[in-house]
Amino acid sequence: MKVLIVNGPNLNALGQREVNIYGSETLEDLEKQWVAYGNNCGVEIEVFQSNIEGEIIDYLYKTKNSVDGIIMNPGALTHYSYALRDCISAIEKDVLEVHLSNVDNREEFRKISVITPVACGKISGLGKEGYILAINFFILKNEEK
Ligand code: DQA
Repeated sequence: MKVLIVNGPNLNALGQREVNIYGSETLEDLEKQWVAYGNNCGVEIEVFQSNIEGEIIDYLYKTKNSVDGIIMNPGALTHYSYALRDCISAIEKDVLEVHLSNVDNREEFRKISVITPVACGKISGLGKEGYILAINFFILKNEEK
């Protein structure tokens, strides 16, 4: 089984960016942990990050047939990107939306997600462990097949 983890704009700056909210570990640190966790469970984890909406969309179309599930933290694209939302609808893959912070107890604009209606679910506010829970979701789902 293969799971793709996609992180959107500004998540490349983890470790420097609003450390009180997002933590002091870099994206590279976290990706290594997610890949190791997946490998321990027999799941191949592919990771991708981009600050560019169109690059994320192109990547999703390119990889959709080679992955079983997608974990996505769209960053701020969550709140306004109808282009990303349309792409998620178009690829017909389970996309689990993940946020490090609890987007529902922050600024008003973060409470709006244009992605949630086309995601298979959403994990928010559980930090890096949210991605681990998301990997487990795909493992359980795969076991049911
Ligand atoms: C985020 C929350 C978004 O509102 C924000 O724009 C991000 C990160 C999170 O992981 O908590 O870039 O998706």
